[in-house]
Amino acid sequence: MNGKYGDSTRSVKAVGSEAIPGRPVAPPPVPASTYHLSPDETESLDSYGRSSNPTWRQLESALAELEGAATALTFGSGMAAITSALRVLAKPDTKLVVPADGYYQVRRYAAEYLSPHGVTVVEARSAEMCEASADADVVLAETPANPGLDVVDLHHLAMDCRGRGATLIVDNTTATPLGQQPLSLGADLVVASATKALSGHSDLLAGYVAGSQPELMQVLERDRLLTGPILGAFEAWLVLRSLGSAGLRFERQCQNAQALAVMLRAHPAVKSVRYPGHRDLMKFLLDDLRMSTDRDGLKTMLKRAVPATTQDVVLIFVTVTGMRRGQLVQDVFTRKIFAKDVCGSPMSAIQITTAGAICAELDLFREGVLPQSGFLRQEQVPLDAFLNNRFGKLYEGANAVATTRQLAAA
Ligand SMILES: Cc1ncc(COP(=O)(O)O)c(C=O)c1O
Repeated sequence: MNGKYGDSTRSVKAVGSEAIPGRPVAPPPVPASTYHLSPDETESLDSYGRSSNPTWRQLESALAELEGAATALTFGSGMAAITSALRVLAKPDTKLVVPADGYYQVRRYAAEYLSPHGVTVVEARSAEMCEASADADVVLAETPANPGLDVVDLHHLAMDCRGRGATLIVDNTTATPLGQQPLSLGADLVVASATKALSGHSDLLAGYVAGSQPELMQVLERDRLLTGPILGAFEAWLVLRSLGSAGLRFERQCQNAQALAVMLRAHPAVKSVRYPGHRDLMKFLLDDLRMSTDRDGLKTMLKRAVPATTQDVVLIFVTVTGMRRGQLVQDVFTRKIFAKDVCGSPMSAIQITTAGAICAELDLFREGVLPQSGFLRQEQVPLDAFLNNRFGKLYEGANAVATTRQLAAA
C-alpha cells in the first residue's frame, strides 16, 4: 500500500459518521424549515432551513473531503451551483470564457443573463481554452466535456490563470472527484452536478461548489442564502447514501467504458470513438497541442507549466504494489534528483522531474511499453524502462554543487 486510500475507501470514509455508542451509523435526514432558537443569540445554531441544515453539513464535509477542498456548498442542482459561481465571479466589464463544447445550458446562461449585464462572454472549445483565456478574468473549463469528452490541460490552464490573477472554475461533473481533483491542479473553484455519476441512481438533482478560499466560499454561501437555490434534506441524504458506493460504481463505469471503447474501435461500422482514456489523452497532448513533431516545444511547455523553484534536491518515490505467492507486497524505489545544467542554463530539479517524466512516459507509450488504452496508473510505468529512457536519463544528474552556486548567484 502506498499510504493513500483507494477510491472506494475514500468515498466510504468520506460519508462515515462519528462512532458514538447508541447513535445510528448512518444518520437519518433532517427535514426542517425552522429550528428552536436558543436564548443565547451568539450561539451559531441552525435557525432556518435556507441558511443551514445538518444533512447538508454532512454531505458538504464528504464532498469537500473527496475534492480535496477546505469547504463545499450544496445546491439544488448542478446549474444552481454553476450559475451561483458565475454570478459571484463574473462582474460587469469582466471577460468570461465558457466552454463552447461543454454543457450547453451554461453557455445559454452566460449569453442570456451575464452578457446583458455587461460581462464579455467568449465561447472556446476545449483545445482552444488556454489560448482564449489569455486575457480573461474568469475562466470556466469543463473537462472531460459533455458531450464530446474532449479534455483540457488543467494544470497548464491553472498556471496561466494564476500568473495573471484570473479565476479558474472547473466543472468536475463528468470525471467526478474520484476521477480528478481540479483544486490539486491549481483551479480556484470546482462546480459540479451531483445529479449524474456521483449520485448515480437517476432519482434526484443536486449540485455543489468546492474550494479552499474562505472569502470566496463565504460570498457563495451568502449568494445561496439570498437567492435560495438550496438542496432538500432528503436529496442531500440520498446523495450521501450514493457516495458510499461511488468508488465501486466509478471503477465499474470506467471498466465498462474502456471495454466498449475497445469493442467499438474494432467495429467495422464505427468511424471514430471518443474516449478520454490514456491513448486519447496522449493523442490530445501530442496532436491537439500540435506537439507530435515538436518534442522540444512540448518540453518547453511542460517546463512553463511547472513552477520553477531553486529547490535543489527532490526525492522521487516509486511504489510498485502487487501480489506475490498470494501475498500483497510492495516495492519502494527512491531516487535523488539534483538540479543541473541543461544546455548551459541552470534548471531546477522540479522542472527536470516533471518535464522529464512526462516526456519519458510519452516515449514509452509510443514504444508500446505502456498500456495503449485506459487510464495509466503510476504502478504501470516499469521503473527500469523509465530510467533507461532517454528522458529518464535526466534523473541521473548529480552536478548539484555547481548548480547550487549558479542558482544562488542568479
Ligand atoms: C457537465 C455538466 N454540468 C452541469 C450540468 C447541469 O446539472 P443539473 O442538471 O444537475 O443542473 C450537467 C447536466 O447534464 C452537465 O452534464
